Amino acid sequence: MIIFNTIEELQNHLNSIRNQKKSIGFVPTMGALHKGHISLVDKAKADCDVVVCSIFVNPTQFNDLSDLDKYPRTLEADYQLLEKANCDIVFAPEVTEMYTETELELKRQKIEDKSWTQGHPVDFGDLEKVMEGAHRPGHFNGVAQVVSKLFRIVEPNKAYFGQKDFQQLAIIRSMTKQLQMPIEIIACDIMREPNGLAMSSRNERLTKQERELAGIISKTLFTIKEQYKSKSVSELKALAEEQIRTVPAISMEYIEISDSNSLQPISDFKQSKSAVVCIAVKLGAVRLIDNVVLF
Ligand code: PAF
Repeated sequence: MIIFNTIEELQNHLNSIRNQKKSIGFVPTMGALHKGHISLVDKAKADCDVVVCSIFVNPTQFNDLSDLDKYPRTLEADYQLLEKANCDIVFAPEVTEMYTETELELKRQKIEDKSWTQGHPVDFGDLEKVMEGAHRPGHFNGVAQVVSKLFRIVEPNKAYFGQKDFQQLAIIRSMTKQLQMPIEIIACDIMREPNGLAMSSRNERLTKQERELAGIISKTLFTIKEQYKSKSVSELKALAEEQIRTVPAISMEYIEISDSNSLQPISDFKQSKSAVVCIAVKLGAVRLIDNVVLF
């Protein structure tokens, strides 16, 4: 496994790989890797000749600076996991390698920087106005900013993302299409702990007891999946709120039943061909999200 910290060195190496007509699979991450990330690497390994994984805690997608400070950083352990998974290349840049001071200053001033569109008419429309987009202003602009930069640096054939970040996946698909990037976006299943808790780097910040309590999040979503054929959307949302309230340590930020493609909330299942239930909660200082596709 080769580790690169600079764009130039990575690109020189990738150019020689492309010259050999080898396909490149890309797994972008913010580190603190777990089995969920490794499942993306495994999928990429099965599909592509060479796999690149990036580890970069992207400052521009954090709207809450204390969240950025507390984001777990476990670089050495990450390298070991990737080595074990037979990842070929790791790209682990410093912030200054990825961003100019001007870009960082715009973020500090909470001014949405659209330079990543490079003049393309990119508009996420209502996709970014709901759920995570509504609760974390500027978050998806930061995600699109860093993912577009990484895509331009790595130029992969395929890129792999976990379905836990359901809305992020929709934003990235839309971004790739609007920027006309020839990259296939592959969605990978959510990996869960034995109690159903969706694997996430943020789980690192939970105590053992909190991890156990957090099992209620997916239990609630799967209860909705079991009952959606016999209850209305509003009854299901009320049921979810009631179930989450049984664990006082958890506070609900939102529960939304939405069309899986437009991500707009639905009030009647007949409105959609495919629906998803998405949730965001706070457990202590840790914000957790999860989702389950209903049909
Ligand atoms: O899902 C993540 O870990 C991040 O949002 C991503 C896609 C690596 C961009 O920083």
